[in-house]
Amino acid sequence: MDIKQVNPDAVPKRELCNGAQLPVIGLGTFGSDHYDNDTIARAVKTAIRLGYRHIDCASVYGNEKEIGQAIAEVIAEGIVTREELWITSKVWNDMHGRVAEACRQSLKDLQLEYLDLYLVHWPFPNFHAKGVSVDSRDPNAEPYIHEHYMQTWRAMEQLVDEGLVRNIGTSNMTRPKMELLLRDCRIRPVVNEMELHPHFQQPELFDYMRSQRIQPIGFCPIGSPNRPERDKTPEDTVPIEDPVIVRIAAAHGVHPAVICLKWAVQRGEVVIPFSVKPEKFMSNLRSAVEDPLSDAEMKEIAAIDKNCRFIKGQVFCWPGAEWPDLWDSDGVIKQ
Ligand SMILES: NC(=O)c1ccc[n+]([C@@H]2O[C@H](COP(=O)([O-])OP(=O)(O)OC[C@H]3O[C@@H](n4cnc5c(N)ncnc54)[C@H](OP(=O)(O)O)[C@@H]3O)[C@@H](O)[C@H]2O)c1
Repeated sequence: MDIKQVNPDAVPKRELCNGAQLPVIGLGTFGSDHYDNDTIARAVKTAIRLGYRHIDCASVYGNEKEIGQAIAEVIAEGIVTREELWITSKVWNDMHGRVAEACRQSLKDLQLEYLDLYLVHWPFPNFHAKGVSVDSRDPNAEPYIHEHYMQTWRAMEQLVDEGLVRNIGTSNMTRPKMELLLRDCRIRPVVNEMELHPHFQQPELFDYMRSQRIQPIGFCPIGSPNRPERDKTPEDTVPIEDPVIVRIAAAHGVHPAVICLKWAVQRGEVVIPFSVKPEKFMSNLRSAVEDPLSDAEMKEIAAIDKNCRFIKGQVFCWPGAEWPDLWDSDGVIKQ
């Protein structure tokens, strides 16, 4: 199949609060239950060959070794230099007490000397448990305690001091938690990776992050149609089947997924859609460089928000807690 390459220089970048330049589209690498590590690593290699420069990884996805090999190969083949790539990884919940060790393991697996961005994957430190995965409720999970999070964050800051990571950020943060972090941090988070799609637009949190010059990175930007069964509930909606998205997609002659991405980028997000299929991940990259949505189309999509969160985080609950508490929905941190 002949798939059109995209000139990486044509993909817009967002300037972060410290001047770093982050490409607006990155490739997600969480394969859900559907794709094996080699398939994902092959996709990373093809994606970089065809124009991707930003790859969103995490140790808990279990595939950093294979992705590291793919990155090493494209660099060795002269397709790209290390400096031209933006590689993100994340510290998992059970490594909050050993951030430096977690980071060094990701660097080793990814065959890199530094990460462009290192994130605290979830604000739920688990200092005492080992081997906590994404696929089961964690019996040892601990509630959010700000001083614990600050211990983790200080270790993140140390990684910047040591040159192991160039930027640090958060993921799945609420406004009350972020306010405390901004009050107490030495190095500010440059991004917050958070669920964002047309049916979960989080307008207040999105605006708050931008007002603080924290770049929102939208995960599940297409609505994660292939997410694991454990992350589905009967109330969940499907953004790519929304009649407004479907109609706008037909007018532009693209898949509804591409419309979700155009809307997100034009709104000011960075997005990290996942696919291992070159025709799909390249139409995703092209979404940022051709045929923008009109102001009227942007407004129509803004009006279809359903406040429907898909990644609810119930697996991170601690005994005695209810999962909505994770999101501080009434503006107060629950412990
Ligand atoms: N920080 C966090 O806590 C967090 C949480 C969740 C996810 N993430 C990150 O965000 C990334 C993206 O989220 P996600 O993978 O859950 O969901 P997503 O990107 O919203 O959706 C991915 C699915 O959409 C389909 N798709 C992609 N491009 C398409 C296109 N052009 N046309 C039609 N279908 C298309 C793919 O189907 P096929 O499989 O058929 O190709 C893929 O399975 C993850 O991979 C991960 O890197 C981070």
